[in-house]
Amino acid sequence: MQNIPYGRQSINEADLLAVEQVLKSDFLTQGPAVAEFERSFSEYVEATHAIAVSNGTTALHLCCLALGLKPGDKVIVTPITFAASVNCVRYCGAEPIFVDIDPDTALLDQNKVRECLASPQGKGVVGIIPVDFAGAPVDLEELRGIADEFGCWIIEDACHAPGGSFNDSSGHKNPCGNGRYADAAIFSFHPVKHIACGEGGMVTTKSDKVAEKVRLLRTHGITKILIRSRKTTGAGTMRCMSSAIIIAFLTCKRPWATPN
Ligand SMILES: Cc1ncc(COP(=O)(O)O)c(C=O)c1O
Repeated sequence: MQNIPYGRQSINEADLLAVEQVLKSDFLTQGPAVAEFERSFSEYVEATHAIAVSNGTTALHLCCLALGLKPGDKVIVTPITFAASVNCVRYCGAEPIFVDIDPDTALLDQNKVRECLASPQGKGVVGIIPVDFAGAPVDLEELRGIADEFGCWIIEDACHAPGGSFNDSSGHKNPCGNGRYADAAIFSFHPVKHIACGEGGMVTTKSDKVAEKVRLLRTHGITKILIRSRKTTGAGTMRCMSSAIIIAFLTCKRPWATPN
């Protein structure tokens, strides 16, 4: 019997060279490679802001904090996901409310989301965390309508969906994570994901306010001192080496990394 590996990353010469260049540079943590990665990723998903963090779990946690999630609040989550998109709610002392998926798509059933929000159980729900499961994009235009009706924010967990997209009712193609309908989106660069660098994550958003909060949270609130000292490593920051691998990846435009 042949074993199917859990994951198998592909590292090529360009990736190795990119990491070597970083190792020979002055910045191993938050430096120019991270900034370059953020710029190219925001372009890739057509988002206004991209903020690189240490992994997808941190991205979720920082988004919840940036959106003001607090003890006593509730958040609608999907039961078909990795534990991180539920645990991030718990990290903030809030309560995850599971709403079932549509069995045909494995995505949150939006009719059931509405039913839940309109029911007594929905009282105190402040946000929704849908997952673009296995790359299948959530219809965020529809979900935004429901969220707005009940005053909720949306964090799109797009860990499985870099390069995915959905067309909205005006025919506009929305790359997953572009921030047009969700308040924030998150990605993971864990080795079993489409784009891998070891540990890495990204928050994308069109909101200046959310972006600023996430940037502060990832570096313990340190801003200018961080840049001058060259030796900061906040709990949420991403390493330059990791960023370099992904820049090499995005630069060489492997077909599955390029939205068409
Ligand atoms: C849907 C989903 N959300 C969040 C995460 C967490 O990402 P990370 O492993 O980078 O912390 C994963 C990773 O497996 C995931 O599949």
